[in-house]
Amino acid sequence: MRSAINLHDFRAMARRKLPQIAFDFIDGGADDELGMVRNREAFSDYQLLPRYLNDVSTRDQSTTLFGRKYSSPIGISPTGMAGLFRVGADGMLAAAAKKANVPFLLSSASNFRIEDAAKIAPDNVWFQMYATSDHRINMDLVRRAREAKVGVLVITVDVPVNSNRERNRRNGFTRPFRMTPSIMLDTLSRPGWLLQYLKSGGMPMMSNWQPYAREGANADQVADMYGTLTPAPMTSWETVTAIRREWEGPLVIKGVLHPDDAIQSAEHGLDGIIVSNHGARQLDCAPSPISMLPAIRAAVGDRMTLMLDSGVRRGSDVITAKCLGAQACFFGRPTLYAVAALGQDGADQVFAIMRREIDAVLTQIGCGNFGDLTERFLHRKT
Ligand code: FNR
Repeated sequence: MRSAINLHDFRAMARRKLPQIAFDFIDGGADDELGMVRNREAFSDYQLLPRYLNDVSTRDQSTTLFGRKYSSPIGISPTGMAGLFRVGADGMLAAAAKKANVPFLLSSASNFRIEDAAKIAPDNVWFQMYATSDHRINMDLVRRAREAKVGVLVITVDVPVNSNRERNRRNGFTRPFRMTPSIMLDTLSRPGWLLQYLKSGGMPMMSNWQPYAREGANADQVADMYGTLTPAPMTSWETVTAIRREWEGPLVIKGVLHPDDAIQSAEHGLDGIIVSNHGARQLDCAPSPISMLPAIRAAVGDRMTLMLDSGVRRGSDVITAKCLGAQACFFGRPTLYAVAALGQDGADQVFAIMRREIDAVLTQIGCGNFGDLTERFLHRKT
């Protein structure tokens, strides 16, 4: 089995495994894809200022989120349709999260049902949902998450409209999906992927939505129905209030970038925020989450748990985010690339690599305890 040295390696490995149409679906952003570059570059606005001659012979990188202790301050962002890149990917990601004792945010657009993912990793699975245009379905998803005993519910709010992802349009990855000669050639160039795709019955089912479709609906028909329910641009703070009323556990909002929305989140009784721009897949000209984190932390103080994703690739990124107020960071694309390239072993490697990098940086900067990181360890580029 091949090993990656760092998270970037998984991207190159996945590119060799996946047809272009699938690779681009993961890799792409919106419009000119400038936001993706900004998400990475923004981390280099900060440097870490080491302190020496502290005893760092033991280190602790655990973090506590909503009263539960996780072994590392990292986790898996929700990503829909993971089963398209590797059959059973959602289950592999859940198992990797369990093994590493970190959160796995199961997307509502996943190919595993909430109920099944929660069985694999009962202490690690969080459930992410988009509000739909159907109030009864929203409430039913909350009920199902509760009955599956999911620990944390996450509402993603940064998709009021399907964004302009030009790679998908050029490749023909649009709905309704139509097989063309060029897509056929593309998939034939990756026979390993094609074989498992065909053996598993083709397009994977968005299983969480099957109960809301007519009986016997196939994967395409379920996806079409999902497309009529989301995006739901009428979603508002009232929707959040309705979900808050139904969900007693920790409730997190994902996709907030404006400090005023962070304040609103606190006032609407939310417990946490994932500061995120959806990996620059929605609004290309949105600021990077790391650049907005200080203002959001200042706006909400200690009232809320802050987490962050979008462009996180290194242990040092996670450390920088903690110095600016985020208790944990998540990643989307890297775990998909890893599982697409190497299956279960790839998903496991992601956490081994990140654990090692976080530990090395903590040692190098003279801070033995992740929880003790503050702005004092940061140097801002001038
Ligand atoms: C996503 N993302 C996402 N977010 C969400 O809240 N629900 C979802 O269903 C999805 N689906 C999805 C699919 C794919 C293929 C990707 C790449 C991303 C966004 C994701 O949760 C996360 O915010 C970003 O991926 C983080 O940025 P990086 O780590 O990919 O740079």
